[in-house]
Amino acid sequence: MALSEDFLLELKQRNDIESVVSSYVNIKRGGRNPKGLCPFHNEKTPSFTLYPENGSFYCFGCGTGGDVIRFIRLIENLDYIDAVKFLADRSGMQMPQEGYDDSAAKLKRTIYAINRETARFFHTALKSPVGQEAYNYLRSRGLTDRTIVHFGLGYAPDSWSDLCDHLRKKGYTDEQMLVAGVAFKSRNGKVLDRFRARTMFPILDVRGNVIAFGGRRMKEEDSAKYINTADTPVFKKSHNVYALNFAKGHAAKRLILCEGYMDVIALHQAGFENAVAPLGTAFTEEQAMLLSRYTDEVVVTMDADGAGQKATERALTILTKAGIKARVIHIPDGKDPDEFMKKNGREGPTKFSALLEGAANDTEYRLFRAAQGLDLSVDRDRVAYLEKAADILAELTSSVEVDVYAGRIADQCGIAKEALISSVKRKGADYRRKQQARQAKTVTAPVRTDGINPKRPRFARAANAEEGLLAVLMRNPDFVPKVAGAISPQDFITDFNRKVYEELLRRAKDNASFDLTLMGSAFTGEELGRLVHIQAMGQQRENSLEECALCHQIMKEEQLKASLSQVGDDSDEDYIQKMTELAKNKNRGVTEP
Ligand code: CTP
Ligand code: MN
Repeated sequence: MALSEDFLLELKQRNDIESVVSSYVNIKRGGRNPKGLCPFHNEKTPSFTLYPENGSFYCFGCGTGGDVIRFIRLIENLDYIDAVKFLADRSGMQMPQEGYDDSAAKLKRTIYAINRETARFFHTALKSPVGQEAYNYLRSRGLTDRTIVHFGLGYAPDSWSDLCDHLRKKGYTDEQMLVAGVAFKSRNGKVLDRFRARTMFPILDVRGNVIAFGGRRMKEEDSAKYINTADTPVFKKSHNVYALNFAKGHAAKRLILCEGYMDVIALHQAGFENAVAPLGTAFTEEQAMLLSRYTDEVVVTMDADGAGQKATERALTILTKAGIKARVIHIPDGKDPDEFMKKNGREGPTKFSALLEGAANDTEYRLFRAAQGLDLSVDRDRVAYLEKAADILAELTSSVEVDVYAGRIADQCGIAKEALISSVKRKGADYRRKQQARQAKTVTAPVRTDGINPKRPRFARAANAEEGLLAVLMRNPDFVPKVAGAISPQDFITDFNRKVYEELLRRAKDNASFDLTLMGSAFTGEELGRLVHIQAMGQQRENSLEECALCHQIMKEEQLKASLSQVGDDSDEDYIQKMTELAKNKNRGVTEP
């Protein structure tokens, strides 16, 4: 069951894209399309574009796009139905009594409620006699009462059913507790508490919902040090970070990325409320994208052991790719921030601030890495280090920067700065030549992948023509019956574009509207974004059947070319026949039936 089209069209009309977006994004008018800084990734020049004529948005920076409902889903982190309700509320419309399925949204609401109740239960336990030991443990690790309350820390009693019994009394079913991930099913079918005898860390999303838990063992001999909620309908551990609900309000200058729950808590308690951590996995691209919504600089401070080094390098690479400026803090004596704060007592915050200010930038970190394992008092090691250092400096574009680092390295190694600089220059010329060659190569042989339309990169000319055609058709639904006889779905090389064309044919036959919001049900959110992109790129195309014919013409040419390149061992006759067809085709376009 779906919402009626009339309802959706009215909803869309009453919530025009520009006024809705304007309450989240500073929109600048002027030019054909209003623009602003994208709220879905971090950028300095506006590529987030509005298309009032069809009520859509598209970001040319990160590729996110869609209609007003998708915008609200993404920015408010809501399900489809809840986003529709949000917009209905906003514009004073009544939701229809029935005719839509909001079971997914309802399930999420139930999970949030169970999680909140569970967090409350654990917190109460921590403050009661059963939680005494856990409470003492947290205090002994230096946490104040205020911090314990602020983070909603708790204790999962050493029992198999305390929590489940409690939740049952509150009216939740076993099924619901299992989906929320606070319970598990034993081998003989009993539903039991997932967390037992552990200090509990509730994990909140940026809207303040409790979405998951981390639980730390109390005794060293217990199996896993931490147990975390597995993925549920409201939680994906690779997509969330710990404490961002607090840190987002302090992220203007930068965020601090550390390794674990305790590090984050210790830093917040010491006044660094911009600290966050991944959730028991290596740092992911999704997490970087999430951070990039709130800041453009992240300082990474991982443990100084081998695993920490690897994690640091991984984080630096991913952050840089997400357009975030990444820096590194090395905590002296290989401590993590938590131990650092504890050891330095009252001086901890000042000392950490100093580390933060002096945080190494990427170059500095790479130089630091290059020196590792080498003894700079040994000639051979020094030569090896200078060689690596010159490689690193060769990638810099600012000669001032080169001069500064070269001076420092020269001092460090007891050589003349000029010798190092001339070696850097030589390598620099080399490096740029190679880079240019690489770039030239990528132009002639596009290797970019396209998750929505996989064949697109390989058949770019065909895909452009297909998309031109689709853009014109979406704008001129009356053209579809006219071209339907001449243009077959088989004329599309790329699968996604063919799927769109088939959808247009279907809708034209039913006399259905081509409105993006109504077509939405046939496409995923990301696909909807692509549709907007196709429409946006086709803005300049003429609204004529000739334009359609022109696109179709190119599609046919490309298809023949593609089949020619597959001929391979075909006989000469086959080849000649195909060539003839290609030539004939050049002089023929779409004709009106
Ligand atoms: N972690 C996990 N599962 C484990 C071990 C670690 O999910 N078995 C995650 C947790 O998020 C933890 C982080 O990795 O916070 C860092 O692990 P670690 O450095 O071992 O723990 P600390 O946070 O330093 O905890 P503590 O100081 O209490 O030892
Ligand atoms: Mn620790």
